[in-house]
Amino acid sequence: MAVGEYKPGLEGVPATQSNISYVDGLTGLLEYRGIRIEDLCKYSSFLETSYLLVFGELPKALQLKEFEHEVVHRRRIKYRIRDMIKCFPDNAHPMDALQTCVSALGMFYPLEDLHDAEYIYQAAIRLLAKVPTMVAAFHMMRQGNDPVMPKDGLGYAANFLYMLNEKVPDPLAAHVFDVCLTLHAEHTVNASTFSALVTASTLTDPYTVLSSAIGTLAGPLHGGANEEVMKMLEEIGSIENVKPFLERKIERKEKIMGFGHRVYKVKDPRAPILQDLAHKLFDQFGHDRYYDIALELEKQATEKLSSKGIYPNVDFYSGLVYKKLGIPLDLFTPIFAIARVPGWLAHWKEQLADNRLFRPTQVYTGLHDITYTPIEARE
Ligand code: SDX
Repeated sequence: MAVGEYKPGLEGVPATQSNISYVDGLTGLLEYRGIRIEDLCKYSSFLETSYLLVFGELPKALQLKEFEHEVVHRRRIKYRIRDMIKCFPDNAHPMDALQTCVSALGMFYPLEDLHDAEYIYQAAIRLLAKVPTMVAAFHMMRQGNDPVMPKDGLGYAANFLYMLNEKVPDPLAAHVFDVCLTLHAEHTVNASTFSALVTASTLTDPYTVLSSAIGTLAGPLHGGANEEVMKMLEEIGSIENVKPFLERKIERKEKIMGFGHRVYKVKDPRAPILQDLAHKLFDQFGHDRYYDIALELEKQATEKLSSKGIYPNVDFYSGLVYKKLGIPLDLFTPIFAIARVPGWLAHWKEQLADNRLFRPTQVYTGLHDITYTPIEARE
């Protein structure tokens, strides 16, 4: 078997064939099932987009109605999972809590036939419906409160915001949040989706597959960047501090959070959509000075880094939107996870249809034929 050339981080190496989403990193194009993200954000909803991603086509009216009904009425979680959450440390990171909850969720639904369309459908509905409830439940219980039960009359996005503080959100806030979820729903073979593919290739269950993906998304180079961006903007503190901050980061060869991308070598097409959403919120709920700092940082960082193809990515502005929605900082990455559930499910389902265990090779750089040295002879 010929060994291919080693590519650190598998940069540029196709790991799968897929018709779920498409990214052109040079022109800043993103399509889900061939439909541009700009159109889905303008005309679709997160649940309709989730259906598109998982089942491959836009649902007809009755299909969407049934899908929404299923998700809405499956949002509650088992009391045993609530009781388990009570044992988590209050200062646990919500991504750790979510990964544990998703893995525990799988304990209640033993693996059946992975090729049974009904099993796949039920698992998809459960994960789409219950992941937001588990994030919100942890958030309420870490404050010593009972979790807020899902409110059946509320849509997907509005209900999540409601479960965070038992207040029915303003319609604009709910709409903006729904668009944010659509924006983060899928993005070809990113690190967490690749984790999902590798885990799925061993034919384990979808709850374990998503638990792997959630663990991968948590890192600051991936989904964790949105939380780091807000910490960075708070550290900068003023427009005047942008220049010295940036000079220090570049001098120390430290990464600017929310900038750069393995694929996009222009501004991430999701970033301007998030900026527009931020403006909509600022118009209604008041400005956020951190947005001005972000704009100045984008201007100066782009001047210095665009020659390397480094521009703002999806994580650079998302935190400003979530902050204006009143969402706590450490829930920003769990929200990314909530949004990415349909993308992970779509890739899991697609791979099952033509599965092959992921088992790459390596370039060995170690030694051979070393003699074993007994412990008494070791200096
Ligand atoms: C997401 O893959 C996806 O699709 C992910 C995602 C999705 O939807 O799933 O789009 C979501 O994860 C977005 C990315 C969020 N991460 C961050 O914002 C963290 C900061 N970004 C960097 O860590 C970095 O840009 C990566 C990890 C995102 C991509 O890095 P690469 O492709 O591995 O690039 P690299 O680290 O090899 O850097 C290449 C050069 C280096 O300079 P030189 O050593 O060649 O001189 O670019 C520089 C890097 O120092 N560089 C940066 C930089 N990112 C790369 N310099 C300053 N700031 C940065 N952010």
